[in-house]
Parts: sequence; structure tokens; C-alpha cells
Amino acid sequence: MIRPATATDIAAITAIYNDVISTTNAIYRADEVDVSERIAWYEDKLAHGFPVIVAEQQGQVVGYGVFGSFRFGEGYNHTVEHSVHVASHLRGQGIGKKILEDLIDRARRQNRLIMVAAIDSTNTQSIGLHVAYGFVESARMPRVAKKHGNFLDLVLMQLEL
Ligand SMILES: CC(C)(COP(=O)(O)OP(=O)(O)OC[C@H]1O[C@@H](n2cnc3c(N)ncnc32)[C@H](O)[C@@H]1OP(=O)(O)O)[C@@H](O)C(=O)NCCC(=O)NCCS
Repeated sequence: MIRPATATDIAAITAIYNDVISTTNAIYRADEVDVSERIAWYEDKLAHGFPVIVAEQQGQVVGYGVFGSFRFGEGYNHTVEHSVHVASHLRGQGIGKKILEDLIDRARRQNRLIMVAAIDSTNTQSIGLHVAYGFVESARMPRVAKKHGNFLDLVLMQLEL
């Protein structure tokens, strides 16, 4: 089941977020965060009318998705940037697809025109997921990020809604 996140989901969202930080290059942060940081993030998204959604299986939050501003400035209002993260032990079972489908649907209903995914160039799973939903590569930015001493290339993919 995909549904809007509530404040009581933030601990589970934080656990997934921290696991992605610690075990992948999908998030360009090195240090795990505490729940209060994610509560502030969640409240900021809601305050600006952006969705935070979760995938729930047997009462457990097993993944989440969100979109927000692509860049600062009202000229970018028709464009949103999203993220999808799934609990590591449940990846490859279609949960990411369901979350992404729901985000696309919500972006359409908000009359957004473009969705952007910013993906580490080595993240073949996420790139494959986005290709499957019609996203096309619009930029490849060598060495714009660094994690654990390694420079990383960022791929921007976009979908015209
Ligand atoms: C990326 C991520 C969200 C995908 O979610 P998921 O639940 O594992 O993916 P799903 O099972 O729903 O979808 C898999 C689809 O992605 C694509 N895909 C998955 N692995 C792939 C691979 N190695 N190569 C190419 N495409 C791949 C396929 O289209 C696949 O659909 P199919 O199984 O019908 O062929 C998840 O792996 C994850 O949370 N990874 C860590 C965090 C992360 O990278 N988040 C995205 C940041 S941009």
C-alpha cells in the first residue's frame, strides 16, 4: 500500500535514509542523521505542499518517496525533483516502481510539467527504474560530488509529464 507519510513514519523513514547513506552512494552525505532532522525535512515538504509518501507492507514502512523544489526561484515551480528509497532487504520486488508511479501521478495532479531525478552514475538500478518510466538523461556532470574521498558523477534524468 502506498499512502501519505505521517509523523509516526519518520523514525522508519530515518532508518531507511541512514542505511542508504551508510551503504550506497545514492545520497551524497557521509554522516547519518537523527530523527529530528528528518522531522524538520518532513514538515518543510508539507509546508510547501509537496508529498512525502510511504510504501507499507504488513504494517511496516518498507520504502518512501518525496518530491520538492528542483532549484530555488518561482521560475522553477513547474519542475520538481524527487527521491525514492526502498529498505535494502526488499529491493527488486517492485516497491520502488509503485512509489515512483505514485509520485508521477501526484506531480501530474499538481500540474507540474517536469520531474527530475538526480542519480549517481553508478546506480544502475535507479537509472534502470527511471528509464522504465520514460525518464531520459538530460545531463551527466563529472566529479560534482565527493564521498569518502572519491569523486562522483551525477546523472540528471527528466520526465516530461
Ligand atoms: C533504486 C531503488 C529505489 C529501486 O527500488 P526497487 O524496489 O529495488 O526497484 P523495483 O523492484 O520496484 O524496480 C526495479 C526496476 O528497476 C529497473 N532495474 C532494477 N535493477 C536494475 C538493473 N540492475 N539494471 C537496470 N534496471 C534495473 C527495472 O526496470 C526494474 O523493473 P523490472 O524488475 O520490471 O525489470 C532501490 O533499489 C533503492 O532504494 N536503492 C537504494 C537507494 C537508491 O538508490 N535510491 C534512488 C536514488 S536516485
